[in-house]
Amino acid sequence: MALLRLDKYLSDCGVCSRREARALIKSGRVTLDGTAAAAVDAKVDPDSARIMLDGQELCYQRFHYYMLDKPLGVVTATEDRRQQTVLDLLPSALKQWKLFPVGRLDKDTGGLLLLTDDGDFAHRVISPKNEVWKCYLAETEGRVTPDDAAAFAAGLTLKDGTVCLPAMLEALEGCRCLVRVREGKYHQVRRMLASRGKPVISLRRLSIGSLSLPRDSSPGDITELREDDLCRVFMDK
Ligand code: URA
Repeated sequence: MALLRLDKYLSDCGVCSRREARALIKSGRVTLDGTAAAAVDAKVDPDSARIMLDGQELCYQRFHYYMLDKPLGVVTATEDRRQQTVLDLLPSALKQWKLFPVGRLDKDTGGLLLLTDDGDFAHRVISPKNEVWKCYLAETEGRVTPDDAAAFAAGLTLKDGTVCLPAMLEALEGCRCLVRVREGKYHQVRRMLASRGKPVISLRRLSIGSLSLPRDSSPGDITELREDDLCRVFMDK
């Protein structure tokens, strides 16, 4: 792995911001391979360096992964002149990394959105060839029928000719249903349900692969993901 400045190493570990790291190093609380580190720009090899803060060994984290329970009314973008973006919701401690959303949810869709600074991971999640399943809870005008479910299972063709892969539709109580799709076309779930005469009133993504929002999750919640969570993204339920 490429060599890193010591202050960047500390902030990548999530223990402090880059500025705080410089202060910690200057105050002598950081050791590099057993010796008090003096230079904030000392070059370290994350694969081999032994770095301690106040006697505690740090564990280097190259990339960062979070799940956000996206609130309604927020745009899935890294910046926007007029509207609040999902990145505006991050606490300042997470703003030091260059996180970006993995795929997108519409402004009026809530629920599970992954954020990371790992481009390869994001690419694997959204690449159509990986067919990662996403599950949505929808409320529709009118109750979905077994015929609608059969049409989803056969693969819908939308009014503009867009062909959708076979998907799953499960009626819940009232006018609520679960929709499972394994692609991410523009407004896909809304357009699929509208094509069956069931326009969407509200839409919330519950899971990606077998990674789900916690049951008690609320809009705006942000949770750091561990390695086993990331594996779940690529597993089907
Ligand atoms: N399908 C939609 O229609 N909207 C979303 O935000 C996600 C899937």
